[in-house]
Formats: sequence, C-alpha cells, structure tokens
Amino acid sequence: MLTMSFSVRKAVFPAAGLGTRFLPATKAQPKEMLPLVDKPIIQYGVEEALASGVENIIIVTGRGKSAIEDHFDVAFELEAFLSARGKTELLEEIRKVSNLINVSYVRQGEPLGLGHAVLMAEPLVGDESFAVILADDVIDATPPALAQMIKVHEEVDGPVILVERVRPEDISNYGVIAAETIRPGVYKVTDMVEKPPREQAPSDLAIIGRYILTPDIFGALRATREDRSGEIQLTNGLKHLLKDRPVYACEVTGVRHDTGNKLGFLKAVVYFAMQRPDLAGPLREYLKTMT
Ligand code: G1P
Repeated sequence: MLTMSFSVRKAVFPAAGLGTRFLPATKAQPKEMLPLVDKPIIQYGVEEALASGVENIIIVTGRGKSAIEDHFDVAFELEAFLSARGKTELLEEIRKVSNLINVSYVRQGEPLGLGHAVLMAEPLVGDESFAVILADDVIDATPPALAQMIKVHEEVDGPVILVERVRPEDISNYGVIAAETIRPGVYKVTDMVEKPPREQAPSDLAIIGRYILTPDIFGALRATREDRSGEIQLTNGLKHLLKDRPVYACEVTGVRHDTGNKLGFLKAVVYFAMQRPDLAGPLREYLKTMT
C-alpha cells in the first residue's frame, strides 16, 4: 500500500520540444501523444504523478501541442456518441482521462532548453518543492518512480534527481553526475555535467527524466548561462544550485524506457503490449515468426 505524501503537490511536464526524431509522424501531432499500445506517452507520466500523490499537473507546451490539451479535456461529442452506442467500457476509459487531473498549461514561446521550460512554470509552481517529469522516460515501477523519489526527498530535505547506470556507449546522451554514496541507491551529488563525451563522463550514473526540485532552482536557472546551442540546461542550473545547497540523487528501481528514440519507443510498445492479456499471446507468436 502506497502512503500518500503531500510534500510535493505539483508536477511540471516540459512538452514544448519539436519531436524532430520522429518526423514525419510528429509533423502535425506532438511526440508526447504517440501511443504505447493505446495510451499516449504523456499519460503514462501523468498517471505516475497521480499514483505518487501529486495531483496538480503543469504542462509546458508550445505551438502545435493543442492535442495534449484536448486529450486531458472532456470530449463531449465522443462521450455522447459512445453513450448512445452503449459502449460503456470505452466511455469509462475516456472519462477517466479527463477526470484524472487538475491541469494547467503554460507556453514556452521559443525552444530555449529544458531549464528555460522549467522557468516558464515558476508562476504556477510558486514557493514550494515540485516535481519535473520528462514524459519521454516511461518508467514501470512499484512503487512508482516519483513516489520512490518523494520518499528520499522527505528524508534528505533537498532536491533529488533520478539516475540510472547506463552503458559507456550511451553516457553522452545524458546529464551525468559525480557522487558520493550515502547508502545503496542514494547519493550526494558532488558535480554534474550535461552530455559529456564518453571519456569525460564522471561516472556511469545518468540523469533520467525525473527531478524533485526546490524553489531556489528558479534563481539558479536565471543565473545559468546558455550553452553553445543557446539553450539553458537544467543540469547546468542544478550545478549552479550545488554551490549553495546539497543536491541528492537516487537510483530507480524499475524498468525505464527511453521513448525519445525509435528503438526505445519500439521496445516500450512491445513491453507494454506484453502486459496485456489480450495481446501478449498473439504478439509473442508473431514475434517468433520474425527472423
Ligand atoms: C534531458 C536532460 C538530460 C537528461 C535527459 C534524460 O536531455 O537535459 O540531462 O539526462 O533529459 O532523458 P534530452 O533527452 O531532453 O536531450
């Protein structure tokens, strides 16, 4: 049984990215709406937040992202249609989505980086600790990944980053921490670097898309310089914050899928299909026929 916590009440979902890795699929629809089986990627993250006791969802959107707002809104015509056809199960399913959340939206006018996206949420977050969830990283875990982090946050009383050990050939795709072990799976961060070349990575502990941040991150982000591509990186903001306060990390217990790349996306589709009694058997049979 999961104990609900109120120390973190808000979760910010940066969702203004252009999704260029999935073109042409993302030409006219947000990458966050691509489905893993039949549920959009972003819904997995929102459900994780809710299951972790975080009920206020703040989505940082941009141009071309209105499908996300429609998805979490009431679909009046669709509901009337399903109701008239007696399709009660489907009706329940789509009502569940709009009943799910207390959601606010804020626009990030220009794609100026993850740190900038988090800054956009400041007026809605206010002066309290909050979560940041990068929906690309879909994590299947019990208790949910965010709940695991909230537990650590309550213990250490400071910012907590989720990390995972990754292979050396993958490390340059991530923010990477240097850290001292507090106890197995929990670390005190001593340094961090955004997407280092493999040979300069300070460890194999990669930042994966979950953060619990304290409100002083906003000042740190404002004081953070743009990187070479003109973006404000959250990793650099956290590095700045490290000068003023301890920052912690915890390792995830669960299965993480990086749905932000094509292979990771495909693996996630198969993984979640295999959890479905109606699909697992026939899909396994089909995969056996592939050579
Ligand atoms: C972002 C962060 C990076 C982190 C990664 C996790 O990068 O900047 O530090 O390791 O998410 O998914 P992105 O994948 O958006 O390029």
